[in-house]
Amino acid sequence: MSKDKFTVTAALPYANGPLHLGHVAGVYLPSDIFVRFLRMNNHDVAFICGSDEHGAAITLRAKKEGTTPKEIVDKYNGIIGKAFNDFDISFDIFHRTSEKIHHETAQDFFKVLDEKGHFTKETSQQYYDEEYNQFLADRYISGECPTCQNPNAYGDQCEKCGSALSPNDLKNPKSTLSGKTPIMRETSHWYLPMERHEEWLTSWIKEGKLDGVQQHDPKKWRNQVVGQCMSWIDGGLRPRAMTRDLEWGVKVPVQGGDGKVLYVWLDAPIGYISATKQWAIENNKDWKDYWTGDRKLVHFIGKDNIVFHAIIFPILLKAHEGLILPDNVPAYEFLNLEGDKFSTSRNWAVWLHEYIEAYPDKIDELKYVLTSIAPETKDSEFTWKEYQSRINNELADILGNFVNRTVVLTQKYYDGIVPAPGAYTDEDKEVLMEIEAIPGRISELVYKYKLRDAQAEAMNLARLGNKYLADNEPWKKVKDPANAERVQTIMYIALQITANLSIVLQPFLPSTAKKIGSFLNFTTKEWSDASAIHQIPSGHVTDTKSAYILFQKIEDSQVDAEVEKLNASRTVETVFEPQKDETSFDDFTKMDIRLGTILEAEKIKKADKLLKLLVDTGLDKRTIVSGIAKHYSPEEVIGKTVTVLMNLPPRKIKGVESNGMILMAENADGKLSFVSPEKDFEAGSGIS
Ligand code: MF3
Ligand code: ZN
Repeated sequence: MSKDKFTVTAALPYANGPLHLGHVAGVYLPSDIFVRFLRMNNHDVAFICGSDEHGAAITLRAKKEGTTPKEIVDKYNGIIGKAFNDFDISFDIFHRTSEKIHHETAQDFFKVLDEKGHFTKETSQQYYDEEYNQFLADRYISGECPTCQNPNAYGDQCEKCGSALSPNDLKNPKSTLSGKTPIMRETSHWYLPMERHEEWLTSWIKEGKLDGVQQHDPKKWRNQVVGQCMSWIDGGLRPRAMTRDLEWGVKVPVQGGDGKVLYVWLDAPIGYISATKQWAIENNKDWKDYWTGDRKLVHFIGKDNIVFHAIIFPILLKAHEGLILPDNVPAYEFLNLEGDKFSTSRNWAVWLHEYIEAYPDKIDELKYVLTSIAPETKDSEFTWKEYQSRINNELADILGNFVNRTVVLTQKYYDGIVPAPGAYTDEDKEVLMEIEAIPGRISELVYKYKLRDAQAEAMNLARLGNKYLADNEPWKKVKDPANAERVQTIMYIALQITANLSIVLQPFLPSTAKKIGSFLNFTTKEWSDASAIHQIPSGHVTDTKSAYILFQKIEDSQVDAEVEKLNASRTVETVFEPQKDETSFDDFTKMDIRLGTILEAEKIKKADKLLKLLVDTGLDKRTIVSGIAKHYSPEEVIGKTVTVLMNLPPRKIKGVESNGMILMAENADGKLSFVSPEKDFEAGSGIS
């Protein structure tokens, strides 16, 4: 039977910030494990990634950092690329969507679809920011989500409830550039009429069939992927604009496209193809072999990318003709951190590049922990405490301990030479059968994308070895020369387990697997060899004399320091109201604002928020009712000089006439503060 061929992609990260452990656990590490496993199994495989360098994610970041999109993508492409390299993620290529070959590929793709009549061109009224002279789509516009009332939903998506939106769905829309209410202006765009594709998508997603031909096994698709897609399709697909009125991006290559670029979710997935092209050029291959014929295309992504990879990109691929559709889209749920969501804006994250810098020798440790807790079917959580316990109790106490005992005893008893076994006991035979069975069980799990269980199964081999040594206690038996042959058998079996570990751990813990192999002077082989029991024959000369402890334990103090560091760097998310609409200087001068000194203060009965104040305004002494009782006690406000809006019409509040208003500052937490003069100015001083 010939082996399946694969093209495996990992979602192109936006080059607008560094990677955190959530990205790693949910996309890059699982795809890397999968690919390493495929390679060991002699599948023909290409592993493709790169940075996603267009879209509002980039331009808005540039605006925030006060620099250009180009600077931003260069900076973060560098940081991300280096982190992948240091973390030993084995991409065949890590490309960039800003490269010329990508722009050309995406433009050709667009032209093919346009010529084949897959787009419609429509003119419509769209939101426009007059201050920035820019149309506002996607993240350039925010407003209230019609589904969950989140006031900060974006024009393409509400991040709170996950609804896919279009700008016109938002209530009270505001430009994210200027904060102002946009106007409407006419523009034309190319649309993908997705509703034309509902029928085939449904049978392809649910049954894996395309034109009646079986394409993939729908049972292997994760429930949440099928579920999200079907809820989108059942809700009715709509035409989706494939172009934008923006500067930064891939220029629209057809007539009428001036000043327009491709929608980033059209351009970015084509990045998988252009990256493959670049890799093929560098390696004397034909990129088409990786995108046509009987090859399995697998997209590793996070759950927020599902519809783009399982609906929109497949529509584009099919419309283009001749290209394969994904065989599977293993999407991951989200990883949380210490009880809260990862958040770049609140700086609540463990950054991959910072981890690597702090712990350059603990790469496999992090891989192990992240795979153990990977959010495969539901959201999961990273805590430093669990990081510590998994490393100490599993890697160090089980795997490390077993390998160490085996190599140390082999060195001590046999000077590093594999002994000859005697007769096997029943227990030995059972252990040998397990050694044989484990690799097959791991394979089965990997092909089902159950990498968490697969890694646990590989660890079971170490567990088995550890228990075998503990039960048989060769270090006690060796004291009686009559047991010499028995000890040889025990050590022989322990050595075979160790050799097998260096094979089955390879996809998960590549550097540890290599170390174990080197202790045994054993070059790890293909996966199919893993179920062989006799890996290293008696008489084989190992290198146990140069062996060392594989995993150092993590101290409590280190865990505490990490948690403290996280808490200290956490920034409070400050979501302030967008700027109000323009006013005039005339309107401003109509307001009479002065300093006033509070002379008396008392609570108002049955109104727990209100204080009744007597204020000296320089002109008079007047009563003002102020809603500050939750923030200030009467005693503490007496004597304070504050800002007073004088000429509001008198108003009765809870039976008390109020003549003016005390101006207050309010922070993001909703706390109130007086606005008081920085110098010691007297009541009555005017403010303008
Ligand atoms: N940059 C996107 C994200 O981080 C993923 C793009 S995947 C691609 O959500 F297919 F579009 F490239
Ligand atoms: Zn919402």
